[in-house]
This record gives sequence, structure tokens and C-alpha cells, in this order.
Amino acid sequence: MSKFYSRNYWLVGFQSRLYDRLSPESYFESMRRVVAALPDGKSLNLLDVGCGSGLLLRFLKARIREGMVYTGLDILGAGVEQALLRAQELGIADRVSCLQSDLTSSFPLEGQKFDVVVGHFSLYTLGSHENRQKALKNLKAVMKPEGLLILENPSADYDADSIIKESIRLVRARDGFLDSLIKRCLIYPFTKAIGLRFIQKQLRSGEWKSYTREEFSLEMKRADFEVQHIEEVYAGSAFLVIGKLKCAP
Ligand SMILES: C[S@@+](CC[C@H](N)C(=O)[O-])C[C@H]1O[C@@H](n2cnc3c(N)ncnc32)[C@H](O)[C@@H]1O
Repeated sequence: MSKFYSRNYWLVGFQSRLYDRLSPESYFESMRRVVAALPDGKSLNLLDVGCGSGLLLRFLKARIREGMVYTGLDILGAGVEQALLRAQELGIADRVSCLQSDLTSSFPLEGQKFDVVVGHFSLYTLGSHENRQKALKNLKAVMKPEGLLILENPSADYDADSIIKESIRLVRARDGFLDSLIKRCLIYPFTKAIGLRFIQKQLRSGEWKSYTREEFSLEMKRADFEVQHIEEVYAGSAFLVIGKLKCAP
């Protein structure tokens, strides 16, 4: 039942754009952290795995206009379609391509290699350790030897209330009291009820994976990545990890 709900949760969320509308500010902030962690360079080739509706494109827009080339990959056709539509709306479609593929199968990327691979809240939905290792192996296969892997996944302390609280604080600081009041009273109750509570339940039941700092590092090391940086993000509800290949795949 929860597998059925989770698949359709993303699908309906992407098609209706409820995913965009209900995502909390703290989630956007964690995407800004990913963008801030990207290496310099105008012509980076970036792969966004489990790209969903391409929400990250909002925050990559300036880098893509400067020359970055973006490829999104997701198992859901609805996500890929929305990501391409978003690229058109943002006026960056000429540097954006997307494909439908499974993280646990080798990617149909015809020998392409990437400077950066990002997985923003995607690998944790692969419930088993074996599937996450398969996915990491597939990521390794498409990275340049000196490439960077940037992953974000929920922490063992994932807490819907903390995420909402931080989001209200961020909106207030960014957009003022009225906007924060509107989000607090009209938007975030749905964010919590429809989205965050479900994710929390999936994490607590072990259906999806949440990590301690040590577990996340160990999973990366087991897949032959050298962990360069790890930080708490998303109101303490997630970790951002930056890794490099130990040796060329
Ligand atoms: C929480 S959403 C994150 C989407 C996007 N990265 C973001 O942060 O907005 C998780 C995404 O992972 C995708 N996903 C789950 N399992 C996958 C798999 N086996 N292969 C590829 N994508 C997968 C889902 O379809 C969904 O789009």
C-alpha cells in the first residue's frame, strides 16, 4: 500500500505541481546548499539523478545560462516531462536534457561522463542496501575520474515539525511576516499532512532509508567513494555529503 502511495505520491505531485507548491522553504534552502557546493567552471557537465520535476533547475538557472550542461534522470516519465517543461519556462531548454531510467540499472548515457553527479533526496527511496550500492556503482560509471558526487539524504533525526519551523523562519527572513503567515496557515499544514508526515512514516518503518552521519559515510566508502565533506542540512533532518572517486571506475 505504501509503495503504491509513494509511487503515485510523486506522480500526482509532479503532474499537479503540488510538489512545487507544497515543498517547504527549508527544502529550497538545501538545494541552494547543493548549488553553493558546486565547483567553479562555466562548462560543467552535471547529472541530476532522481531529478523528479527538475526543481533543482530553479537554482541552477544562472549556472546553466553561464554554460553548464544539465542532464536529469528519473524513473518517472511524469517527472522527466515536468523537468523539460520547467527548462522551457526558465529559458534554458537548449542546455537541458532528461531521460527516464532506473537508478539501479545501468544508464543509457552512451559513454557520457559527468563532472558532477547530484542526488538530491533520491537514493534514500531505494529501501535496500543492495539497491543503493547498485545505484552508487552506476553513478561511479558515469563520473569523470576527478568528478564530484553530491548526495543529500534524510537523517535519522528527520522531523517534520523542525522542517516546518525552520521554513517559516526562512520565509519570514526572506519575504517578511505576511508571507510567512500565509505559508504557516495556508500552505505548510498541507505540506506536513500530505508530504512530510508520510516521508517520516516511511523512514521510521525502514521502507526508505534515513542515516546517521557514520552510516552515510560508510555507505559511500563501501562504494569506493572518498568522503570529502559532510554537513547537516534541512533543519537537522538530512545530510549533504560530497564524495570523490577513490580511483577511476
Ligand atoms: C523526493 S523525490 C526528489 C526529486 C528531486 N531530486 C527533488 O529534490 O525535488 C525522489 C525522486 O526519486 C525518484 N526515484 C525513486 N526511485 C528511483 C529509481 N529507482 N530510479 C530513478 N529515480 C528514482 C522518484 O521518481 C522521485 O522523482
